[in-house]
Amino acid sequence: MVACSMPPVISISRLSKAYASGFEALRTIDLEIRRGEIFALLGPNGAGKTTLISIICGLVKASKGSVQVDGHDIVKDYRAARSKIGLVPQELTADAFETVLATVRFSRGLFGKRANEDHIEKVLKDLSLWDKRDSKIMTLSGGMKRRVLIAKALSHEPQILFLDEPTAGVDVELRRDMWQVVRALRDSGVTIILTTHYIEEAEEMADRIGVINKGEIILVEEKAELMRKLGKKRLTLHLLAKLDAIPEALAPYRLDLSAGGTEVIYTYDTQAERTGITALFKDLANAGIRFKDLHTDQSSLEEIFVNLVRGRA
Ligand SMILES: Nc1ncnc2c1ncn2[C@@H]1O[C@H](COP(=O)(O)OP(=O)(O)OP(=O)(O)O)[C@@H](O)[C@H]1O
Ligand SMILES: [Mg+2]
Repeated sequence: MVACSMPPVISISRLSKAYASGFEALRTIDLEIRRGEIFALLGPNGAGKTTLISIICGLVKASKGSVQVDGHDIVKDYRAARSKIGLVPQELTADAFETVLATVRFSRGLFGKRANEDHIEKVLKDLSLWDKRDSKIMTLSGGMKRRVLIAKALSHEPQILFLDEPTAGVDVELRRDMWQVVRALRDSGVTIILTTHYIEEAEEMADRIGVINKGEIILVEEKAELMRKLGKKRLTLHLLAKLDAIPEALAPYRLDLSAGGTEVIYTYDTQAERTGITALFKDLANAGIRFKDLHTDQSSLEEIFVNLVRGRA
């Protein structure tokens, strides 16, 4: 675990972006990225994920606010800030006629770093691209092209890696390989910020999760904490007779009455020693409440996400 007292590796302060059209893509974003973490930025299409990353990487100019990357202001100290960063863009762009090896070498050169064949070889091997090193980019599959983009982003040994939708359009098996690569990078000390539509990916990979919607960060939470909140289950009892109100005697269970008084919902912690279900059934019987059926379901990150986003729509 990363100590919280360490200064953040990225500090975003009061950041806003209005595009030339006047469209406000980001609205007063405040966010800190901790050194060495994997941070997943989760949000629907058009939420502002790519805009935020593009500003941090110096590709798009902010309208207001500031960003510090490892202590360097991204505008005043652009080169120093940018040298810390590797970016894997959302769009597949690569020089079609170049070979894998040449394009990755060239990327390193762009950052003014001295040639280091050992590093390039390691990156290509880690990404299972070594066998393809002499192939022209245009002859590669989509998943391989995406890995070439990752190799390019790693060519200059960045401390911070942005992955904008790294596994979009990548098959399940390859996705798992990429997760392995990303984890290994984190273990080597690289801070990772990834954007994704896949809740499963955020769940699997992230130390912390931020949810962005319509240009606003609406939630930032430790994944473990989010999962703890998700460790709740819902028990729905379908009543034999309609109920107007929950009897006072059942108040401690904090039941919800729904479906016009025909359903009672009990929320409990699956990780707790006791769920309270046995006692609830006894107390329901004592209160003369009978039910004809029941079912349980579990809230998921997906559900929380959808509710959050819908709540703000
Ligand atoms: N160059 C631009 N000019 C005007 N509007 C833009 C420009 N680039 C992006 N936008 C708008 O800003 C909003 C945010 O776009 P952005 O690409 O940051 O979203 P995103 O969260 O990355 O979406 P996706 O999940 O589809 O990649 C969108 O409404 C988009 O249309
Ligand atoms: Mg995007």
